[in-house]
Amino acid sequence: MVKNAIAVMTSGGDSPGMNAAARAVVRTALFEGIKVYGIYNGYKGMLADDIRELNSRSVSDMIQRGGTFLGTARCKEFKTEEGRQKGLENLRKHDIEGLVIIGGDGSLTGGSLLSRMGMPIVGLPGTIDNDVWGTDYTIGADTAANTAVDAINKLRDTASAHRRIIIVEVMGHTSGWLAVTAAIAGGAEYVIVPEVKYDLDDMCNEIVESYKGGRRYCIIVVAEGACSAIGLGKQVAEKTGIDTRVSILGHIQRGGSPTVEDRIKASMLGERAALAIISGASNVVFGFDEGRVVAINLFDAVNNKKTLDPELVRLASVLR
Ligand code: F6P
Repeated sequence: MVKNAIAVMTSGGDSPGMNAAARAVVRTALFEGIKVYGIYNGYKGMLADDIRELNSRSVSDMIQRGGTFLGTARCKEFKTEEGRQKGLENLRKHDIEGLVIIGGDGSLTGGSLLSRMGMPIVGLPGTIDNDVWGTDYTIGADTAANTAVDAINKLRDTASAHRRIIIVEVMGHTSGWLAVTAAIAGGAEYVIVPEVKYDLDDMCNEIVESYKGGRRYCIIVVAEGACSAIGLGKQVAEKTGIDTRVSILGHIQRGGSPTVEDRIKASMLGERAALAIISGASNVVFGFDEGRVVAINLFDAVNNKKTLDPELVRLASVLR
């Protein structure tokens, strides 16, 4: 049971809703009479002792903001034993008895290492990739998918005007969740993800046939880790003879005001995380399974790889 203080940090790639989650951690802890520190700029800030006490007003005007007011970073030094020791000493200096980490796979792995050194850790999955094992949902993925769908809607207008093929590259180095979700919700014709093989010739032949039958546009969504969108654009243009353009959405998908789903779920997860860490829990990640908050073992979450739901892949190919 925590007597004095907990801390909260965001780490790795930011995702919309991280602020809502951190806000819920802060306000829940204060409600329970526990001090809360913010660790600024992820593990980098932990090592630099960029640790400041937060109050209720520190998280005012935050729920609607993308990014993270705590800042975030990718930190090589934390990957060394020495670096982690330094981080732990800084936490102890402030009498921090437990830490809530909001981030993706890499950030939660960092947390699992810190936990082995004796610091209680509760994790929340925060990444637009939706690739954390054991949870259907990660904070920010819904907002990113909505951003991608909004872009697809606009790209279809211009594709249709010119009878073009447009290739839309979305984020996801190893995970195709964002691509498949955006493809289904955006009504794309094809989706190419790292997890599933595709046949370029078959796809191009089908596109040519459908254009002969009167089709005015074709949208192909590609996850960044599946192949080079630019290279694919050249090949598709060559093989089909149809005017083709490539649009890379990039970091625009990471920003923006979180959707209602991200705000609500991040708030629910933030409250659960704060209550758990205060009550002395450790090595747990809170996520969602079929609409309900679930607790996942931290080591299971970081040692297993989440697979892309084959039902989503199937649906995308049926509905195109
Ligand atoms: O992990 C989230 C993610 O947005 C990936 O989809 C993407 O490949 C990566 O981060 C980009 O990271 P960075 O911000 O370091 O360019």
